[in-house]
Amino acid sequence: MKNFSVIILAAGLGTRMKSSLPKAMHTLSGKPLVKWVIDSVSSLRPDNIVVVVGYRHEIVEEYLSKSNVNVKFVCQEKQFGTAHAVMQAKEILKNYNGNIVVISGDVPLIKTTTISNLIKNNQKSASAVTVLSAGVKDPYGYGRIVRKDGFLEKIVEEKDANLNEKQIKEINSGIYCFDKNLWKALLKVEPNNSKKEYYITDTIAILKKLNHKISVLLTKDGVEIKGINSKLELSQTETLLKNQKIENLLNSGVSIIDVNNVYISYDATIKSDTVIYPGVFIDVGVTIGRNCVLKGSSYIVNSKIDDESIVSYSYVDGATIGKKVKIGPFVHLRPGSVLKENVKIGNFSETKKSFIGKNSKVNHLSYIGDAQIGANVNIGAGTITCNYDGRHKHQTIIEQDVFVGSNANIVAPVKIGKGALIAAGSTITHDVPKGKLAIARARQELKRRIKK
Ligand code: UD1
Ligand code: MG
Repeated sequence: MKNFSVIILAAGLGTRMKSSLPKAMHTLSGKPLVKWVIDSVSSLRPDNIVVVVGYRHEIVEEYLSKSNVNVKFVCQEKQFGTAHAVMQAKEILKNYNGNIVVISGDVPLIKTTTISNLIKNNQKSASAVTVLSAGVKDPYGYGRIVRKDGFLEKIVEEKDANLNEKQIKEINSGIYCFDKNLWKALLKVEPNNSKKEYYITDTIAILKKLNHKISVLLTKDGVEIKGINSKLELSQTETLLKNQKIENLLNSGVSIIDVNNVYISYDATIKSDTVIYPGVFIDVGVTIGRNCVLKGSSYIVNSKIDDESIVSYSYVDGATIGKKVKIGPFVHLRPGSVLKENVKIGNFSETKKSFIGKNSKVNHLSYIGDAQIGANVNIGAGTITCNYDGRHKHQTIIEQDVFVGSNANIVAPVKIGKGALIAAGSTITHDVPKGKLAIARARQELKRRIKK
């Protein structure tokens, strides 16, 4: 889409959130509200995205600077209202000739196609502004679209609306597409309302008075324009998003035993015939293959799980899991864990930054950190890779077909050659050549028992 820029309003404290965090930074499915809006407009490749920040602006700026988006910031030191907020972007956009989309940072579900339709509508109808509206069952709290003879007349806020206006079910989405007359109209906005604020919504009637064409685009989907002002609305939107996701997954062949007792992030990819039992929490960045089974209070984030794998009662963070892998019960996979086909990690074991080759097993009470483990390796119960000397982390290399007996300490850096055997209870501090048996423990002595 060509010839438009975007101003995102995100300076507000969000009084109704009753929080010290700026409203824009409250998260929906793990992603801050303002980032949802940025993602939605970014795919249309606007000429500029200007984010108006204010209350605790450093938090918003720091987050967005780190998240690889191309935005400019302007600061609204004091929050005198939505028109005043837009005014802050004038310095950057005053000589810009394209259309300007103004959008609140609290409408996370807005679709890219709707914004694109809004811009097209404004450009085709040669209007000074097109307001995006929606018909809703419960308009409480929103600005109302007041029409005369069917044509847009003005927008009136809940607090300033008379009884008749309060009955209107067509609401202002807080999303507008202006042409460059925006700046002229803003100069005429006055704080003549119950909150004594400068309202962007007043520019509509102002532009009409100045004999400019004003339009309204009515969306059918009242859900996508949902503005979030309170924790209740945030939670309701979270449920809405989750239910949409669950419905899509069920329609694509994923089995979910109890839809009211799972959490699945909007961005999860899950293939058909995978079964999700109650108590599973799938957070952001998760891809799951076919025929997997996920059960019992498992938490999975930023991970990839290939076909036919099982995860039960486990915490999986930043792991890459191959086919037919069994995780759990009670396993902690930490970032950088790469498990190849048919690996088993069980009962109270933990892995971190480790590669574990095909068919290898870490079945009981072990810690595997900074390790490279080959195929067909058996790690006995209670094995610990001692990877940290108090200052630095060191690597353990265990080649294929090694058998590590129970309760071994493997002090890194160290390498255990192919097919070697580590005797139970050993503390290995030196490399073990391939095929050797290493015993590194005190010999058992037998002494006479002294009876009292
Ligand atoms: C606003 C609209 C209302 C619309 C609703 C849609 C106005 C006056 N009202 O109401 O007609 O139906 O959105 O969701 O615009 N902000 C600033 N600086 C300020 C004030 C607000 O940046 O000085 C930002 C907020 O952070 C927020 C956005 O502007 O992202 C909208 O403000 P908010 O207080 O949520 O307005 P609503 O009451 O929802
Ligand atoms: Mg709002």
